This record gives sequence, structure tokens and C-alpha cells, in this order.
Amino acid sequence: MGPTPPSAEALPTPPERGWALVTGASAGIGWELARCLAAEGWDLILTARRRERLVELSEQIRNEAGCDALVVPCDLSTPDGAARLARELEERSLWVEILVNNAGFGHHGRFWTMELDRGLDMIQVNVTAVTELAHRLLPPMVEAKRGRILNVASTAAFQPGPNMAVYYASKAYVLSFSEALREELRGTGVTVTALCPGPTRSEFGQQAGFGDSVFLDKLPRPSSRTVAEYGVRALLRGKGVAVEGLLNRMHVFALRFLPRGLVLRLVRRFQEVRG
Ligand SMILES: NC(=O)c1ccc[n+]([C@@H]2O[C@H](COP(=O)([O-])OP(=O)(O)OC[C@H]3O[C@@H](n4cnc5c(N)ncnc54)[C@H](OP(=O)(O)O)[C@@H]3O)[C@@H](O)[C@H]2O)c1
Repeated sequence: MGPTPPSAEALPTPPERGWALVTGASAGIGWELARCLAAEGWDLILTARRRERLVELSEQIRNEAGCDALVVPCDLSTPDGAARLARELEERSLWVEILVNNAGFGHHGRFWTMELDRGLDMIQVNVTAVTELAHRLLPPMVEAKRGRILNVASTAAFQPGPNMAVYYASKAYVLSFSEALREELRGTGVTVTALCPGPTRSEFGQQAGFGDSVFLDKLPRPSSRTVAEYGVRALLRGKGVAVEGLLNRMHVFALRFLPRGLVLRLVRRFQEVRG
């Protein structure tokens, strides 16, 4: 059973609106998504592994926007992480009206040289936790006839990624899952948006092992704030697939016409010079 949806008799706190849950809120795009949602008046549940970063963000949100911001640390790479998070929300009667599945990470390098556990953790965070949180938190949204899900995919979702094979495949799943779920939910009052950023300034490159890439430094990358502002606008409008930035939209459009073999070689080259 999921958290209690609002009803005429017993409304959870806060009564007018549910809460916005942001995963991966301790850094980068997730941090800014949380601030943007707070600027729109949403109370927040912030989750990630680094508690102290979440506490810092919750204080910033209270000062900036006057919204409530609860900190619920969670490691989504553990098999029961998403279930424990959902259980804690249920025990505290926190009804989630906006779910932002943002937590994620990549790994740069040849697939067979990557630690297997790192690849499996990536699938757990980028794919399994996204799926599980949506499954656990959707029924009360459907019952209440309102809700929003924002799944952070990537422009990586639109083609395979040699030298980042698991990451690209995980984002292809997020995009496909989001579009299918959106169609299933048509007419229910609940929408699903897939946010697809291209390369963005955040801790992502450091985590993925790009190192101090001169190439990456020269790449015109938007800030996490720019991506988050765009993402929150798309989410609140109930847009389906939201590719951030004109260059990224041109990239995704061009992929429709390029032979797959050429795309694979280009992405491989891109990932080689990037590292
Ligand atoms: N930056 C880019 O170029 C780019 C481009 C396209 C898409 N994206 C996507 O955007 C999303 C956010 O990435 P970002 O760029 O903001 O990267 P980031 O700065 O590295 O932030 C990643 C967030 O995910 C959280 N996270 C990682 N592993 C976790 C785990 N096991 N359990 C719970 N939380 C975990 C991190 O928190 P803790 O470390 O505290 O747990 C952090 O808050 C990701 O899904 C990423 O794939 C990024």
C-alpha cells in the first residue's frame, strides 16, 4: 500500500498540495530542481546519500522560498533502498504529488574493464530505483487524479554509447519507460515527463571518471540551474519529452537521419576525446 492520497475526510499535511520528492538532490541538477520547485511553492522531500549536503540545501530552501524541506537520506544502489524510502514516506503520511527521479551516475571507459558491481549499481540507481519509485508512488496519484513525474533521462537515451555502454542503455530505458507510462496514464490527471539534458555542469563528469578533460572544458555546457529551470517548466506543463537546449534538440533530430553505424563511430570518437 502506498502513502495516503488526499480525501475530503482526512487530508495529509500539507492539505492543499502534496509533497515534491527529489532524488539525487545533494548535487548538480537535482539540487537545482529542488530549488526551482521550492520557488514554485512546493514543499520538498530531499533524498540522496550525503545527508550534510541535503541539510544544507533544506536550510537554503527554507531561507530562499519559505517552503518546508525534509531530509530523508537513502542509498538507491541497495536492492531495498527505494522500498525503504517509500516506506518511510508512508509511515510519515507524506503524500508525494511530484516525483522527480533524478539520481543517477555514469561510468566512462571500456565495459569489460569496469568493475561489475559499478555497472550493476548503475542499473540499480538509474533504472531499477526509477521504476520502483514510480510503481510505489503512482497509485495514490492516480486515485487523487493528479500528480507529476519527472524522470531525468539524457540525450544519451537516443543512441547507444560505446565507452559508456551501460549508462547510455540505462537512459534509453528511462526514456522508453517514461513515454510508455505517459501514454498509459493519459486521461488520469497524472503526467510523466522525460527530461533529456545534454552535457551539463555538475559533479557528473567527476563521478563518471572523465578526469580533467580539456575537451569537456571547451564544450559549451549549460549550468545545472539552466537545465533545472527548463525541466521544472516542462514538468509543470506536463510535457512528454523535454530536450534541453537548441544544440541538443538539433542533435536528437539529426539522429533520425544518420545511419546507425556512423552514429556509433561518432559517439565512440566523442567518448574517446572526452576522457
Ligand atoms: N551532468 C550531465 O552532463 C548530465 C547529462 C544528462 C543527464 N544527466 C543526468 O542528470 C541526473 C543528475 O546528474 P548530475 O549531472 O546532477 O550529477 P551529480 O552532480 O553527480 O549528481 C548526482 C546525484 O545523484 C545522487 N546519487 C548518486 N548515486 C546515488 C545513490 N546510490 N543513491 C542515492 N542518490 C545517488 C548523488 O547524491 P549522493 O552522492 O549524495 O548520493 C547526487 O545528488 C542523472 O540522472 C544524470 O544521469 C546528467
